[in-house]
Amino acid sequence: MITSDERSILQAARTLAAGKLVAIPTETVYGLAADATNGDAVAGIFEAKGRPHFNPLICHVSDIAMAGRYALIDPLSRKLMDAFWPGPLTLVLPLRPDTHIHPLVAAGLETVALRMPRGIAGKIIAALGHPLAAPSANTSGKISGTSAQAVADDLGAKIALILDAGPSEVGLESTIVKVDGDAVLLLRPGGLAAEDVEAVIGQKLQRMDQRAAIEAPGMLASHYAPAAGVRLNVHEVRHGEALLAFGPTRAINAQAAAAHLNLSETGNLREAAANLFDYMKRLDRLGSAVIAVEPIPFNGLGEAINDRLVRAAAPRVPPIAELEQIK
Ligand code: TXA
Ligand code: MG
Repeated sequence: MITSDERSILQAARTLAAGKLVAIPTETVYGLAADATNGDAVAGIFEAKGRPHFNPLICHVSDIAMAGRYALIDPLSRKLMDAFWPGPLTLVLPLRPDTHIHPLVAAGLETVALRMPRGIAGKIIAALGHPLAAPSANTSGKISGTSAQAVADDLGAKIALILDAGPSEVGLESTIVKVDGDAVLLLRPGGLAAEDVEAVIGQKLQRMDQRAAIEAPGMLASHYAPAAGVRLNVHEVRHGEALLAFGPTRAINAQAAAAHLNLSETGNLREAAANLFDYMKRLDRLGSAVIAVEPIPFNGLGEAINDRLVRAAAPRVPPIAELEQIK
């Protein structure tokens, strides 16, 4: 683990050029990065995360020009890049034929998910001269790492280098959208509020049907799973539960909680997003059987926060009967 500074840029770029994995800070969460044009290196990501191979990965670029070398950019996507890059917005775009992005990155799809992150990652990508494939730096199905220490605890032995730039500013993965004809689909709510995207495109985003979305990963029902069970929308705490609170007023019986962390005392969703993964991990480590979560509003970043919480609360192994019903 080294401090992320100007000197670390070259070291990271060299390590990546040698086909190794580097954990890099971004404004959303820490990424487990590999050179997206190097199939062996990309395979290393799946191996380190224990991630199912059908999940395509997000490719990180240093600027819009680099995005244009790998994907076909329609005018609406371009407008969103101009408005929000660098930042927590990922765009799914048609792959250009003859690019060198390894097919494993897009899991065989003819599209690629691109984003330009804020912070040092952009400089590393520019120094390397290739995009970086980088999912969140955590074991598959576990909570995403929002600090270098969290990444080291989870994956340390499997990564050549971890750059430490302090806690991630946004704390939630990027919002993923895809322009589809005249419509714009919200594939994953995330660190950029849907309302902000809608303000720029002048139309509503289309939410994905949950079931159709299973083809797009991050969309597997159980995800971001702590060891404890998770109970949502809690108005009354049960004895011994760990309480994940939100806002100035407490659930009934909050004093019976074994532990208590507040995502945002003032009810600020941005602050809550930044604290979410870290607080879930901290409560989980205390060993309560259940983490009780107070209600969180659905506006702004609340949509993505609730999305992650619902996944954290989902049954870990779907009963066969449920799978049958999905068909
Ligand atoms: O904030 C973030 O986006 C973080 C940081 C590290 O940048 N990255 C991240 O990447 O969350 P990853 O690889 O875990 O996200 C993959 C998600 C999948 O859930 C999938 O739904 C979507 O991106 N995705 C990737 N390629 C896609 C494609 N071609 N079509 C549709 N969805 C795609
Ligand atoms: Mg992830």
